[in-house]
Amino acid sequence: MTPNLTIGPYRLPGAVLLAPMSGVSDAPFRQLCLDLGAGLAASEMTTADSRLWNTRESRRRLDFTGISGIRVVQIAGSEPGAMAAAARAAVAEGAQIIDINLGCPAKKVCRKLAGSALLKDEDRVREILTEVVDAAQVPVTVKMRTGWSPEHRNGVRIARLAEAAGIMALAVHGRTRECMYKGHAEYETIRAIKSAVNIPVFANGDIKTPQQALDVMRITRADGIMIGRGAQGQPWLFDQVSTFLRKKIIVPAPSIATRRDIILSHLDTMYRFYGEHTGVRVARKHLTWYCQRLQDAEDFRKRVVLSTSSAEQMQLTKIFFERRLGAEKRRRSTYQFPEYPVCGDVKTKQFVYQEIKRHV
Ligand SMILES: Cc1cc2nc3c(=O)[nH]c(=O)nc-3n(C[C@H](O)[C@H](O)[C@H](O)COP(=O)(O)O)c2cc1C
Repeated sequence: MTPNLTIGPYRLPGAVLLAPMSGVSDAPFRQLCLDLGAGLAASEMTTADSRLWNTRESRRRLDFTGISGIRVVQIAGSEPGAMAAAARAAVAEGAQIIDINLGCPAKKVCRKLAGSALLKDEDRVREILTEVVDAAQVPVTVKMRTGWSPEHRNGVRIARLAEAAGIMALAVHGRTRECMYKGHAEYETIRAIKSAVNIPVFANGDIKTPQQALDVMRITRADGIMIGRGAQGQPWLFDQVSTFLRKKIIVPAPSIATRRDIILSHLDTMYRFYGEHTGVRVARKHLTWYCQRLQDAEDFRKRVVLSTSSAEQMQLTKIFFERRLGAEKRRRSTYQFPEYPVCGDVKTKQFVYQEIKRHV
């Protein structure tokens, strides 16, 4: 892991980044991940067609209310001029870094020759990157895949032309466009890309634990890691991974009481950001992911995803955790709490340790 990583004038507070995920990495989730140790969190992909930016969904994607980290806007498109105009407009809206999507395999994106479909057309990639870098006047980064198909892994060529065009960092998902999300990410191409360029490279794909992150760092020699699906339902993973990479210390998952606090605060920010109707619906998927990482939460999950009001969702969540805490207390009266490794300056110390300390 490279210490003191910078992208242009911005020094990243950490080298473990949240991956942009449409429908997931909205402002509330980004802020939560930043609070729990993510070094950077890009917005969900925004179309380069800025005529469509007045829809409610697009407005939300460009809404940075309450975001304390560096503001990164990801744009997707295929026309160099439109991409450059979109970059300029995003900067006018407050973006501090523009990220270009060369990685999305979704059919509706690729049909328009955007996202990872662009990897097929290196000249067009060069044109887009050059025009966006010229227009943006802020650092521009690229999120890409390793190539178009396993037979056409042109990731190294794309990375080199990106660096030559003035791109300041790359995040590379270790799959090709054709691989979609199938199989397992491969990291050898990321390693080849890292050794071919002098800009920071972040390795991405299938990283769900601190140990996997370390393995990927060792294989790729990347400057940092980008995590997407692994953070769903466990945003504290950023702190766990960065502490493990820096100090080889395992930070335990937060206690039940701390999870309750994190989840309730996440619910609250979603309701405030989206309003009652949409907030309740968006919260359902996050609650489902949180439940997947909690034991015996199936009954709670079934009930909470059916609730139609924020008050009910909150109440059900509080009751679930109250019961869980009661059961834990009873168990603890006969249980010797294990000793946890102490890690001095962990960012989430407040979250992760306060409960443990109370009981040891
Ligand atoms: C639901 C979902 C939405 C995604 N949306 C985007 C996006 O908007 N822009 C982008 O560059 N990648 C997007 N991705 C790809 C992720 O950023 C990431 O590269 C991929 O999930 C692999 O990383 P992971 O295994 O850590 O999840 C998305 C992935 C998922 C699962």
